[in-house]
Amino acid sequence: MQLLDGKLLSEQIKTELAAEVEQIKAQGGKIPHLAAIIVGENAASQVYVASKIRSCEQVGFKSSLIRCEADITQEDLMDVVQKLNHDPDVDGFIVQLPLPKHIDEEAVTLGILPRKDVDGFHPVNFGRMAQGLPAFLPATPMGILEILRRYKIETSGKHCVVVGRSNIVGTPISILLSRKGYPGDCTVTLTHSRTKDLPGEVRRADIVVAAIGIPEFVKGDWVKEGAVVIDVGINRIPDESKKSGFRIAGDVDFESVAPHCSYITPVPGGVGLMTVAALMLNTLKACKGEIYGA
Ligand code: GUN
Repeated sequence: MQLLDGKLLSEQIKTELAAEVEQIKAQGGKIPHLAAIIVGENAASQVYVASKIRSCEQVGFKSSLIRCEADITQEDLMDVVQKLNHDPDVDGFIVQLPLPKHIDEEAVTLGILPRKDVDGFHPVNFGRMAQGLPAFLPATPMGILEILRRYKIETSGKHCVVVGRSNIVGTPISILLSRKGYPGDCTVTLTHSRTKDLPGEVRRADIVVAAIGIPEFVKGDWVKEGAVVIDVGINRIPDESKKSGFRIAGDVDFESVAPHCSYITPVPGGVGLMTVAALMLNTLKACKGEIYGA
């Protein structure tokens, strides 16, 4: 069993990005600028956004963090989005999810200009992705593709079972892995909470992507010998032995699953860090006008 080291890969990507920023600077070009909107005080969201901003600093991007009160109105939040849409210095921006219950998340996502939607959540980017057109890919699926690519994991003709059908991970990764080319050309089964005999489905997989949001859900006796396991989960479990009061667990029961795998991503240190790296890659693409032109 070999660990798929998201920390190592994300650092490699950031080193490559930093070199490119140096080159841009030397040529007097525009420095990529990512903005992030965070609403309220969700503890996990604070950690994720801080990591995105820190990554910008590491690679030499400009960043802006816009903090909004938890009770901001829909209208005021839409105004913040519009301001970023119209700010010529901001190449791309994200609105950290989840949003408070009174906010219409779909309306917010639709309000972001597709060419600045570096999270790839806007239906225009999603549709373009599904049709294989140039698009901002959602950061977590893109991070998974980058792991497969950089570890040269064979995907052609493999049976991939995705557990979870969210708009931001399960559904897009199932589309991306079934597309023509590398990494792709998989036969994909998309499973979810209503799937009959989920363990039986997972047992048929050469590649498992666990993205269901339930801690330690996928068990060792569900996994075929030699399978590749990608664990997308980042779950907080109460743990009094920790100073923070919690520990982080994936959607895979690592201890029982790892002995059966050829490759597995650890949590933490796997997909999460690659999500941030992918967001940085998308921000550079936005700055260079690679998807929608300059
Ligand atoms: N919440 C959980 N994952 C993500 C993500 O990739 N982007 C945003 N904006 N919010 C999230």
